[in-house]
Parts: sequence; C-alpha cells; structure tokens
Amino acid sequence: MHSAPSRPGSFQPSGPLRGTLKVPGDKSISHRSLMLSALAVGESKITGLLEGEDVLATAAAMRAMGAHIERTGEGHWTVNGVGVGGLLQPAGALDMGNSGTSTRLLMGLVASHRLTATFIGDASLSKRPMGRVIDPLSQMGAEFTASPGGMLPLMVRGLVPAVPICYRLPVASAQVKSAVLLAGLNIAGITEVIEPVPTRDHSERMLRGFGADLTVDVDADGVRHIRLMGEAELQPQQIDVPGDPSSAAFFIVAALITPGSEVTVTHVGMNPTRTGIYKMLEAMGADLTYSNAREVGGEPVADITARHSVLRGIDVPADVAPSMIDEFPVFFVAASMAQGRTTTSGLDELRVKESDRLALMATGLKAIGARVEEREDGLVIDGTGGEPLEGGATVTSALDHRIAMSFAVAGQHTYHPVTVDDVSPIATSFPTFESILHILQVQH
Ligand code: S3P
Repeated sequence: MHSAPSRPGSFQPSGPLRGTLKVPGDKSISHRSLMLSALAVGESKITGLLEGEDVLATAAAMRAMGAHIERTGEGHWTVNGVGVGGLLQPAGALDMGNSGTSTRLLMGLVASHRLTATFIGDASLSKRPMGRVIDPLSQMGAEFTASPGGMLPLMVRGLVPAVPICYRLPVASAQVKSAVLLAGLNIAGITEVIEPVPTRDHSERMLRGFGADLTVDVDADGVRHIRLMGEAELQPQQIDVPGDPSSAAFFIVAALITPGSEVTVTHVGMNPTRTGIYKMLEAMGADLTYSNAREVGGEPVADITARHSVLRGIDVPADVAPSMIDEFPVFFVAASMAQGRTTTSGLDELRVKESDRLALMATGLKAIGARVEEREDGLVIDGTGGEPLEGGATVTSALDHRIAMSFAVAGQHTYHPVTVDDVSPIATSFPTFESILHILQVQH
C-alpha cells in the first residue's frame, strides 16, 4: 500500500544518458498473473513480477481471499490457487492503496463469488469513478453500496449463481472489460464483452493461456466481440512477465530529449495494444531501433534502443489514445521540447486517472517554461525545437506516479532543476526508477 511519507525530489541534467537497462515487470500483466494463478487449481510460478505497491495490494487481497502466495526470490513468486468459485470471505477490508486496476478487476472477481468485500484506498483512488464497473456487475446480480459518486470506500456483495451478460463497453477501458470477464469465469454460460475501440488485451491472452474457453471475433465494423464460457476451470501456469512498456517509455523519452544519449531497454513488452507511444515518437522523428524480437508467455517482447533526436510536433489521432493511455504525461514532455506544435484530443479519460493528468501536466509544464494550452480533451503544445526548458520550479505530483516520473524526465533537459513536491508515489509502479536514472546519468 502507498503509505510512504511524502518526499520531494530534485532533477537536473547531468549530460548524456547512456547504458542498457531492464525495467520491472508489466503492471497490468503482473496483476492478472496473480489473480488468475489464485483462481487456478494447483501451483503457478511467476517470474519477473512487478514488486510495486499496486501489485502487492493485489497479492494481499488474493491472500485475504484464500490463495497461498509466496515470494521465493526477486520477482519470483509461487501461487497456490483456490479454483474458480473458491474465493473465501476476507476477514477485513481490502486496501487497494493507489491501484485502480486492483480495485476494478477484483470487484469483478468478487461479484460472482458468495462473499462480501469492502474496498478502501488512498485519497487518489477514493476520487476515481467506480460506476463504470458497478453498472455491468450489477446487471450480473452483484449488489453494491458505494460512497457518493460511485466511489470508494464501497462494499460488493457477490451473487452465486450470477447472470451472464452481453455488455457493450461505453468507455474504452481494459479495466471494465476485464472486470466483466473475470466475473464471467464463475458464471455458467457465455459472458460477452463488445469492445468498439480496442484496449489492452492482456486479460484475453492470459485467460486463454490458463485454459479458459475464450474467443475473440472482429466484426465488419472492426468491433471486437469477446466471449468467455463459464464456469471455467483454470490450469496452473508458469508465467514470465515482460518488462513494462509504460515504464520503459520514461527512459526512452529521457534519451530522446537529452543530447548525446543512447539508452537500450531490454525485454520490453511489445503488445500492439500498448505500443502507441513508440509509434507516435517515431512519427515525430525519434531514432528508435528494435532488436531481439521474441515471444514470452503469449506476449511479444523486444529490446528498444533510443538515441537523442530532435523531434517534430505532430497531431496525435484520437484513436491512438487507448494504446498509449498511460504514456501521455511523458509524451507531453517530449512534445514540449519538439519543433513546432503537437496537438492531442479525445483524452477525457486522462482526467480520471490517478490524478487529472491533463490539468497537472499543463500546470507543471507551464511552470517549467513550456508553452501549453489545456483544452477539455487534450493539450496543445508548442515545443522548444530541442532547446532545454527553463526549469527552476516545483511541480505537484498529487499521488500520481506517472506525473512524478514525467517531471523527473523533463528535468534531464532544463536550464534549472525541476523539483517534484512528492516522488514517493513512484513506488506504486516503478520502485527502482530513481536508481536506474542515476545509473544512466553516471555511465558516460
Ligand atoms: C489498465 C488499464 C488502463 C490503464 C491502467 C491499467 C489495466 O485503465 O490506464 O493503468 O491493467 O487494465 P483503463 O481501463 O481505466 O483505461
């Protein structure tokens, strides 16, 4: 749980960034690997698990509902599952810390089990909308008592047998899709999710990997129909979690904006539902090369090398947003140092992430000298053409790890240091971020 005391961080250029690094395991895949292993009958082994606070919140919750989960070494975990339908009543409230993914996916799991669970979280999570999962899960028969606005703390009373539904996603959200599918695991019949705009498909890939009967059909309009047959029986697996492309993006952008840099990040997940950031950076002229492409545990993986590049502003098409939804904060940093104008739109979802990312990035970037216009659904940024930003200001991270890391990256190419008021939230997804940045700074 994110309980570390608030801690400011100061970031300033120290010359080129150089070196080869591995980022921690993918956060989305780490959550899912613990959840599905906990629902399989028998022992699963996970390597490369992200040991950030968010994923540890999922592990604690699955333990509280009966799974045996043990850490056997760095990133190595063993899980003995209880079987679909076998989750137990937790003794106390499930503390989700800062983690929206843990909360929404676990609400799905609980919805079709005979138990009642109370979800609590930190100040950031307690402001995030849960109505988007309460709606479909209520249709399946679960009952909810939520705080005003459909927020945490909230209580879920699961139903057995629950009702299979066909649900068309009203918002492009992998968390909502996954909550419905996970609920469907313990419901006899076909649970269907209709997905007009594709979002990350780790749940679909991993459910199949665990032996669930899941099909994906794309209709003539390009809409995905995901059908899961319950009640499912999941077989234990060995899972190697690839490096998180969202975490890698911070160092890739840092290398691109910092003159003289060359950084290689190895073993990065290259699932096409996650790589929008790399496509957009390339469209801006980024020097990125990919090597050693391979497949790990049903997910494509590669090594990425980034060399300093003077980027050119672009219009980011709104339909690219879901495949880079978590990377916009650091993308805005790249845009603020590009040549010309970058426009983004269709990003309303950024306002309901760990913070209002459009507002915080606009305010913070302006404070360090960037030219930014905040619109309702995106930012318009006029870049410096490769020159450093002014820096010399303190920016607010508001319990948002990605805001903190984005400004740490911005501080690699400014005239004066950038201070982040609180870097402690970085531990939710990337506990080794600051030490890796330091290593890259000194390897000249
Ligand atoms: C995630 C889905 C995305 C993303 C989040 C992780 C997931 O959220 O922003 O960091 O693991 O399913 P939404 O479903 O709200 O878009």
